[in-house]
Amino acid sequence: MIANKNILLCVSGGIAVYKAVALVSKLTQAGAHVKVMMTESATRFVTPLSFQVMSKHDVYTDTFDEKDSGVIAHIDLADWADLVIVAPATANIIGKLANGIADDMVTTTLLATTSKVWIAPAMNVHMYDHPAVIRNIERLVKDGYEFIEPAEGILACGYVGKGRLEEPEKIVSLVEQFFKPKFLPLKGKKVVVSAGPTRERIDPVRYLTNFSSGKMGYAMAAAAQKLGAETILVSGPVDITPPVGVKLISVESAEEMLQAILREYDGSDIVVKAAAVADYRPKTNLPQKMKKQAGDTSIELERTTDILLTLGERKQHQLLIGFAAETNNVLEYAKGKLIKKNADYIIANDVSKLDRGFGTDSNTVTIVGKEDFQKNYASMPKEQLATELFLTILKREGISQ
Ligand code: PMT
Repeated sequence: MIANKNILLCVSGGIAVYKAVALVSKLTQAGAHVKVMMTESATRFVTPLSFQVMSKHDVYTDTFDEKDSGVIAHIDLADWADLVIVAPATANIIGKLANGIADDMVTTTLLATTSKVWIAPAMNVHMYDHPAVIRNIERLVKDGYEFIEPAEGILACGYVGKGRLEEPEKIVSLVEQFFKPKFLPLKGKKVVVSAGPTRERIDPVRYLTNFSSGKMGYAMAAAAQKLGAETILVSGPVDITPPVGVKLISVESAEEMLQAILREYDGSDIVVKAAAVADYRPKTNLPQKMKKQAGDTSIELERTTDILLTLGERKQHQLLIGFAAETNNVLEYAKGKLIKKNADYIIANDVSKLDRGFGTDSNTVTIVGKEDFQKNYASMPKEQLATELFLTILKREGISQ
């Protein structure tokens, strides 16, 4: 998979630099072309010569040391790479990249490349847990960088914890995965996914909502994107980061979600309604805070528009996939919704059980479809389930084998 691929390894200064030498050796044995650049502090741990011998290429340490007068080295290397790996990545290099600092060969090249960049941190466990490092990693994830999480174990500093550079064998297998030809059955298709709860305002400080975390819907959006779809995620208020490559449209109320989805509907091929949409909203959204009074009170509620039902009524070529969260008669209600809302599939969650549905990392569902189609899924992480659900549906619809 990786023969003749160009891999640029950026090495920053930590004791794990010796593992980076082994990584270069394994990548080149697998047939990859590997070029190495080092920060000044990395050269204190291992000499550039070690990397030069392993990679059979010059090693780059100085932005101003131009080895070929025909090109500018950091731009040339940035363009050359099919994949860039920063390993080991110190807290310092992570902080510089998160803040756009380009003051040496490695950081200037990292800003200049448009290739995929993986960052493999290695540091003391307390450094890895430091709020500044956490903040910088979060920012880089938002910017589209991918992290190879450090492993746990005995660290060079004597502590036991998370901070060891991932083993070279594991990094090589990730590189192989990366270059494996991709299975993209949804390429050329547009998928709209709704996720999370809605908020229905009572007054400026109060609202009605539910326990949806958005995890299931975000997993569906990530799966659609990985399978090649142009993916739009219409999300109610949640605390999770949208998957890289997915277009996020943030909404608050059921009405805003309806309008956002309708705007995307005509051009879409598949709509997944994983959101837990409020069925009712307060009839009046008070402009001022409701004041406490003696005795009980009540709030008059009115129905929201059923988005899935509306999409089912207006369906042209779209495939409609709904979810159903039920506490009893789960399959009976799910099958009823399939017909009533003119959906193609309903994914039923039995939310009476605490290990599935709202807020959990895993889910256990049954999918029902037309012509009495029914399939149960054992408990699995929502990300994995989302891919399995798409694969089942796409196979049944003749979109993939
Ligand atoms: O977000 P998580 O914490 O990961 O939890 C996941 C989940 C339990 C929220 C999700 O998997 C799920 O089951 N979502 C649907 C919950 C729900 O509202 O089910 P429902 O039976 O009330 O609605 C059935 C379908 O109609 C759903 O696709 C819903 O999006 C849609 N609907 C409902 C009401 C409404 N006004 N408009 C709608 O489109």
